[in-house]
Amino acid sequence: MGKFYITTPIYYVNDEPHLGHAYTTILADVLSRYHRLFGDEVFFSTGTDEHGLKVQEAAKKRDVEPRFHCDEMVIRFLKLWKKLKIGYSKFIRTTENKHIFVVQSLLTYLYERGDIYFDTYVGKYCIPEERFWTEKDLIDGKCPSCGREVISIEEKNYFFKLSKYKDWLIEYIKEHPDFIKPESRRNEVLGFLKKPLSDLCISRPKTRLDWGIEIPFDKKYVTYVWFDALINYISAIGVYRNNDSFQKWWPCDIHLVGKDIITTHAVYWPIMLKSAGFELPETIFAHGWWLIKDTKMSKSLGNIVKPIDLIDKYGVENFRYVLMKNMILGSDASFSEEMLVNTINSDLANDYGNLLSRLVRMIEKYFQGEIPEPGVGNELDKKIIEGGKALPGTIKESVNKMKLNGALDSVLKYIRIINKYIEQTAPWNLHKEGEIEELKTVLYSACEGFRLVTILLAPIILNKAKTALSVFSEKEMKHIEDINTDEQFLTWGKLKPGIKIKAIKSIFPRIIHDKGGNRPKEDRVADWQGAEKIDMEYFNRIDIRVGKILEAAPVKRSKTLLKITLDLGEKKRQIVAGIAKHYKAEELIGKEIVVLVNLKPTKIMGIESNGMLLAATDKGNLSVISVDRDIKPGSKVS
Ligand code: MSP
Repeated sequence: MGKFYITTPIYYVNDEPHLGHAYTTILADVLSRYHRLFGDEVFFSTGTDEHGLKVQEAAKKRDVEPRFHCDEMVIRFLKLWKKLKIGYSKFIRTTENKHIFVVQSLLTYLYERGDIYFDTYVGKYCIPEERFWTEKDLIDGKCPSCGREVISIEEKNYFFKLSKYKDWLIEYIKEHPDFIKPESRRNEVLGFLKKPLSDLCISRPKTRLDWGIEIPFDKKYVTYVWFDALINYISAIGVYRNNDSFQKWWPCDIHLVGKDIITTHAVYWPIMLKSAGFELPETIFAHGWWLIKDTKMSKSLGNIVKPIDLIDKYGVENFRYVLMKNMILGSDASFSEEMLVNTINSDLANDYGNLLSRLVRMIEKYFQGEIPEPGVGNELDKKIIEGGKALPGTIKESVNKMKLNGALDSVLKYIRIINKYIEQTAPWNLHKEGEIEELKTVLYSACEGFRLVTILLAPIILNKAKTALSVFSEKEMKHIEDINTDEQFLTWGKLKPGIKIKAIKSIFPRIIHDKGGNRPKEDRVADWQGAEKIDMEYFNRIDIRVGKILEAAPVKRSKTLLKITLDLGEKKRQIVAGIAKHYKAEELIGKEIVVLVNLKPTKIMGIESNGMLLAATDKGNLSVISVDRDIKPGSKVS
């Protein structure tokens, strides 16, 4: 058992949380949960970056104190993380006293060491905007924000000696291949370090910016953003150097960042740590961007994706899974709602969710709901058993190598192998042919394989995994964390024969493409070519029969419903059908139609409906399916 400390960037408190923020934070949460599952003790920190000119200005605009403004803004992040079930150990705010103390202590230390010095800062200043810009920021020599002329200005400020450590950093990066990942970002940073590295201006006079952490050795100044922000990774775990918690967790194992902030993390931060005499983090991992139709999300383009909307529409587990599945760590990925729906339908509804429904049905049908005792098994069974035994190790290795997509691919591949195993062994035939010993082995092995993949998906699909596991578990799982407490859980054979399974509703219902923006209509298939494939055993559960319409009448206060009485051979049946806009009651009488008879009875507008007639629809047209020859009412349709 080891320790694992992971961080996300701290997000600008002024920003409304979007898909990009959600992604990094879910990724950190998922990695934390995998590490816990594999026995590590984990500290996961995230938070908000709350100082700086933008916050000061936003507060001024609202005529409130910056602190009050931050207290209000931060709630949006806290709410989203709650909704996304983010299990952080610490939510750090840079306005916390503890953080301020750590920043000031570090500043003093570096100043006393001589790595911070006072000098003249030369920059471009926009008087109307009261803002400093660097030469690089300017657009055609003018203020990038308002387009007006800027003036050159000189100002005294504090600087941090980045340049002094440049050669050391290059060597360090070269000697530590895992320090900056992926490889492409490592090369980018080494390329950046080939150019001259100027010292970093780390202060602003309070006359221009006072919403910041005061420089302890010069009360007329505050520290400027990055110096303040990066230190959160230390203040999140402990007060300062000799603190127990700091000793326990530092150095950090993974700083997760988006590729936009790799330089600050891979150049400024290691030099700050080196100068302060701290160890360096194991890995700074830069992931790619979520793009919308190949462009980055931005307020000005109006293409910001808000996670809250998607979670409400599709559910938190689906959302988490789709983000983890569809971005190869390190590369950019394109986000669309269509991609989201397709992934849910193919991976979660079809491959995973259907497997559970099939298993439950078969265990109920062939073993009265009791998990059977497996036998020795043949070659096919052994393949499943070997695959299941190897899977946790494969996933652990992929997670350690930050190959999360690889891990998910392996899980999914195994799910498909189980599905194929069921097709190949055809339990319904084994049952028919009396091969009960083999039937027991097949169903036990498939259930045990399913149980294992569920645990391995639990860091992503959380409560859905809990629900799925509750089918095969005697003990009630109260928290998702209960899944992680016992590593033995991941051993093949832990599923106990003889326990009664508990039936549940479909855990991942299919979602149909819904361009209108309404809630998705679940369990219906819009596109038949992409539809789920079912086996005969599934189809045989559906009882469709010919019914003769004896009576039909409109339902009071409804424009769409008809109450229909059917002759179904031995018995009469009443159904309610939404076809009044297409058929007059009288024209239906005597028709021989096709009816699903084993649908659970329900009440529609207070009237009992016991079955469903079948009809075809085509953009507003509707045709009730009828038979074209005389056939006895009650005849089975197959
Ligand atoms: N406050 C700084 C970070 C300081 S860390 C010491 C900052 N904040 S931010 O609010 O702009 O958040 C940046 C982070 O959000 C990125 O590094 C990345 O993790 C995430 N994302 C923002 N946009 C993104 C995408 N379009 N796609 C994926 N993630 C991106 O920078």
